Amino acid sequence: NNVIIINGPNLNLLGVREKSIYGEQDFPAYFESLKSSYPTLELSYFQSNHEGAIVDKLHEVGFSATGVVLNAGAYTHTSLAIADAIAAVPVPVVEVHISNVYAREPFRHHSYLAKNCKGVICGFGLDGYRLAVESLIAE
Ligand code: DQA
Repeated sequence: NNVIIINGPNLNLLGVREKSIYGEQDFPAYFESLKSSYPTLELSYFQSNHEGAIVDKLHEVGFSATGVVLNAGAYTHTSLAIADAIAAVPVPVVEVHISNVYAREPFRHHSYLAKNCKGVICGFGLDGYRLAVESLIAE
């Protein structure tokens, strides 16, 4: 099994940015701990602040990976290009949000991506990434 976690814009600032919403932990540290709890899983991580780079990465891994865990950040609420890229590839994509987007501003309640995803996990903090990995490797 090989699973890739893709994080979109501003998620490179986890542990620094709006800690009351997104927590204290930086992603690379969380990723290392997640990897060590799945010793036999090939788990990789990609982050970009650029919409097209996320589209490119989905094309690159979307025909061969076991699954993709995607937190597209604010692009979730704006990007038809990422929605189309998810629809274009056969690999299952699980949408993740660290915060409970439904408890926040109304503009965060709509996802262009969700209908093309296997499922959506939100509101469980960084543990949402683990839950998404679980759902993909259980396939
Ligand atoms: C987020 C929620 C989005 O609305 C926001 O733009 C983010 C992070 C989350 O993980 O909770 O950047 O995807």
